[in-house]
Amino acid sequence: MNIRMFDSREELDAFAAQFFIDKINRKPQATLGLATGSTPIGIYENLVERYRKGDVSFSQVTTFNLDEYVGVPASNEQSYAYFMKNNLFGHIDLPVDRAFLPNGMADDLQAECAHYDGMMAGQPIDIQLLGIGHNGHIGFNEPDEALQGGTHVVTLKQETRDANARFFASMDDVPKLAITMGVGSIMKARTIMLVAKGADKADIIKQALQGPITTQCPASLLQAHPDALILLDREAGGKL
Ligand code: F6R
Repeated sequence: MNIRMFDSREELDAFAAQFFIDKINRKPQATLGLATGSTPIGIYENLVERYRKGDVSFSQVTTFNLDEYVGVPASNEQSYAYFMKNNLFGHIDLPVDRAFLPNGMADDLQAECAHYDGMMAGQPIDIQLLGIGHNGHIGFNEPDEALQGGTHVVTLKQETRDANARFFASMDDVPKLAITMGVGSIMKARTIMLVAKGADKADIIKQALQGPITTQCPASLLQAHPDALILLDREAGGKL
């Protein structure tokens, strides 16, 4: 693992954006794995700004998002589809038909998972961006006795629903189910970029990077990835 610590979030975000831009400029048809949540917002802002300056074009890029809530339509502000449109896709030249998220509104969720895996099988991910949950989840692969390799439907842990409740009007509105890429798909990415910011992530970052590799901390699996880049601000890296 290549661990890099930054004095400020601004420096981290600029570095991460540059990393993506370098890849896309070397390989215009790159396939990117993307995340939602608060962590990548600054990176997406940088990418939009750099796109506007003409430093990068996404016209041949393909993207696959990690996850989506079940039962929340793309028109709902809390859906990850809406998040991606609002924070990135709506501001760059990425063709809409090459920006993929799992469809949490599908009638047959199992078929949707298989379909998503099928699409990714044809297009290996060049860089997979990840945040990390306080319990060590990546995507919505929650700590468990066993983890799943492929895309699957997951029941969100109460702690994850609590953490995401800030975005919803009430706890009852927070979805109980999501579709997520599995750890097998994530680990297949050629490069993984895990980003963590803030003192509240310091304990789980220490556990994930320096603790045992265990399904009880899904992010610890990244220790076994041949090209994992970990970007931390001083606070998140404070306990290493
Ligand atoms: C989001 C995702 C989640 C988040 C994680 C951290 O697509 O897959 O694993 O990356 O919950 O969320 P934030 O960035 O809000 O702390």
